[in-house]
Amino acid sequence: MTQDLAPSVRQAVRPAQQAEGWWRSAVIYQVYVRSFADSDGDGIGDLRGIRERLPYLAGLGVDALWLTPFYASPQADGGYDVADYRAVDPLFGQLSDADDLVREAHRLGLRIIVDIVPNHTSDQHVWFQAALADRREGTARERYHFRPGRGEGGELPPNDWESVFGGPAWTRITEPDGTPGDWYLHLFAPEQPDLNWDNPEVREEFTSVLRFWLDLGVDGFRIDVAHGMVKAPGLPDIGRTEQAKLIGAQVLPFFDQDGVHEIHRAWRQLLDSYDGQRIGVAEAWAPTSERLALYVRPDELHQAFNFQFLTCDWDAPAMRDVIDQSLAATQSVGAPTTWVLSNHDVVRHTTRYGGDDAELGLRRARAAALLMLALPGSAYVYQGEELGLPEVTDLPDEVRQDPAFFRGDGQDGTRDGCRVPIPWEGEEAPYGFGPGGSWLPQPAAWAGLSVAAQAGDPRSMLELYRSALALRRDLPGLGDGEMRWLDAPEGVLAFSRPGFVCTINTGGDEAAMPVPGRPVLASAALAISIPEGRSTGGTVRLPSDCCVWWAV
Ligand code: NOJ
Repeated sequence: MTQDLAPSVRQAVRPAQQAEGWWRSAVIYQVYVRSFADSDGDGIGDLRGIRERLPYLAGLGVDALWLTPFYASPQADGGYDVADYRAVDPLFGQLSDADDLVREAHRLGLRIIVDIVPNHTSDQHVWFQAALADRREGTARERYHFRPGRGEGGELPPNDWESVFGGPAWTRITEPDGTPGDWYLHLFAPEQPDLNWDNPEVREEFTSVLRFWLDLGVDGFRIDVAHGMVKAPGLPDIGRTEQAKLIGAQVLPFFDQDGVHEIHRAWRQLLDSYDGQRIGVAEAWAPTSERLALYVRPDELHQAFNFQFLTCDWDAPAMRDVIDQSLAATQSVGAPTTWVLSNHDVVRHTTRYGGDDAELGLRRARAAALLMLALPGSAYVYQGEELGLPEVTDLPDEVRQDPAFFRGDGQDGTRDGCRVPIPWEGEEAPYGFGPGGSWLPQPAAWAGLSVAAQAGDPRSMLELYRSALALRRDLPGLGDGEMRWLDAPEGVLAFSRPGFVCTINTGGDEAAMPVPGRPVLASAALAISIPEGRSTGGTVRLPSDCCVWWAV
């Protein structure tokens, strides 16, 4: 018998969310604001565009949205260079649009998480402008890290730190009188000066900014560079180059310093002082799962992105190790684990898994989605992954905007390829993205990947996500909770949750195994042989790169 498991369950409007700890099981959809939906035809996505598309997201079956920064910004790093934390950039709308969006999302049962960027401001922020203008000690410069240069004339950077985007992490300023002056620290682009979190004024200002958005009704914050706000005293040298390779591999004097936890603890208290379970999510790069778990201790943040899962190879034993480590680390502090396959900083996983072989990539991405959504905890979906979008690898240099691309070999500098506006409908670009064009060109092949092209096609990626998300709500064993590994052939991972089994074959060959239950969803067509005269038992031949959900 060959079973083609078409989506069977669908829910348009979501039931009320679990009252306790909603984030422990939540599926959170990342909206990269400038590339989601454009309402005014300037080719750049905006808040109104998102509001108009909320019914799509509610129908998809996610619980919450994370919106990337939409604050006033010169856009030197896609909005992660904030000039005014309390204002919406005119590119994206105005404050009333943010207000409307939050209200409408809540009406549809969707929560809203906004990005907060506390490690650095824009160089156009009033604080930094004041710092440039005033060199007196104990003044505006103390909100940032200004230091005299080394060398006889101060012509060398104060230490050997490198920017994540490549090149030195320091830029020398010209003083108002025209003379070469001090240097300031920027772990990212020069347009993103690092704040000095030892300065109480910085802490107070961010408390006030968080309150501003909490009062507006947001359900939480994704905290950008949550591991970076505190620097080692004295800003010591690292003593080697290619420091970007050390990020997430070891504690650095600028990343994962223990002092950051005090800030997160204070923020947790603030979040808890509001009703409605507002949450903090750490974007933190820590060298081990254990150190990452420190960010989600009971009195700190609620979640941290699990990048170890994102960076794991397509290989059953490696995946099993990462899953075990992730669960053990978060369980040790009582927090839920998060799972994420893609975001706006990495090559989309269809391309990561398949390379040039698009069909292979899509097959694996389908399987990975079912694996991720079956694991205990909360999951993140990056816009367009539910359409199976690949990375756009042939963007011409002149349209690129990623600052890393222009700064040599720090971060890979290819982050534009995952940020191309998503296709909604129609045969021609911009495929319903908006009434104008799109800020990055969309490939011709995306007509066939649009929401409209996939909706209702049981074999599409979109319908796979819709079915999986609906089942995830219906099957009580999914979301937060326990899992147990089951015996499985080489290359296969099998685990059980209450009333449920998930099997995934990452190997290159079909794998035969006993049928563990009734199949409810599969990422590819399945062949199951059941012995004559019996309704259960039998053998399933699990295709290569296929994941199956079973009810037991
Ligand atoms: C992480 C963000 O995800 C990335 O897009 C940004 O460039 C850096 N933080 C710096 O803010």
